Amino acid sequence: MFVEQLRHVPLLRGLTDVQLADLARTARTHRFEPDQIVFLQGDPGDTVHIILRGQVKVVTTSRAGHEAILAFLADGESFGEMSLLDDLPRSATIQATTMTTTLSLRKVDFHKLLREAPDLSLRLLRALARRLRETGMLVQDAAFLDVGERLAKKLVSMATEAIELGVTVPGSTRVSGPAIELRVTQQDLASMIGATRESVNKSLASFRTRGYLAVGRHRLSILDLDGLRSVVDRALD
Ligand code: CMP
Repeated sequence: MFVEQLRHVPLLRGLTDVQLADLARTARTHRFEPDQIVFLQGDPGDTVHIILRGQVKVVTTSRAGHEAILAFLADGESFGEMSLLDDLPRSATIQATTMTTTLSLRKVDFHKLLREAPDLSLRLLRALARRLRETGMLVQDAAFLDVGERLAKKLVSMATEAIELGVTVPGSTRVSGPAIELRVTQQDLASMIGATRESVNKSLASFRTRGYLAVGRHRLSILDLDGLRSVVDRALD
């Protein structure tokens, strides 16, 4: 790994040349195929990873094999830092969803960096605070919203993110703008909102009848984002 490449990793911004050179010596790069497991919940943990390119999902699995997706993490985000901070086994399984390249650091080198680079420590704490908020929101939604409402909320947030990234598909039947394409399976949606695939399927059918979306294979077209928003707004009133 070259110093010049490391300089462009957002989490490492502000490190001195000496710190970057140290990292270039000690960090390793890894490539993961789509669906490849990076590590499993319960494994001992001795490395933290920074995603250089790609996407992983953070999942936790019940004994019966049901999967709950805690988060998707992409370019510039890190994972595996928790075990290096509390010395406990991996809190979740990490699985690549696309071809993914990461940079890994061993515990001693990570701890050294945290002590020597306060800006990096602050960035990491900020990311952990955001995750804690998001996880709190998941708990709140599980307690106060039903499956249809949780699904509508998730779809609104995914569609909003897609709009921000500019991933819209023109030429739909919607009168007031393009449809928003989401590439996601019903099983993934179920795992993201803590529901069964069957109940997600039922709610999607109801949203389709109301004209809010169209259901395709491995994808959804959001046709009426405001309609979906109204489901969430009514639930939160
Ligand atoms: P670690 O416990 O070492 O291994 C699993 C990793 O998944 C964990 O570190 C975090 O980096 C990440 N992780 C765990 N829980 C969440 C969550 N709720 N949101 C995002 N990432 C998480």
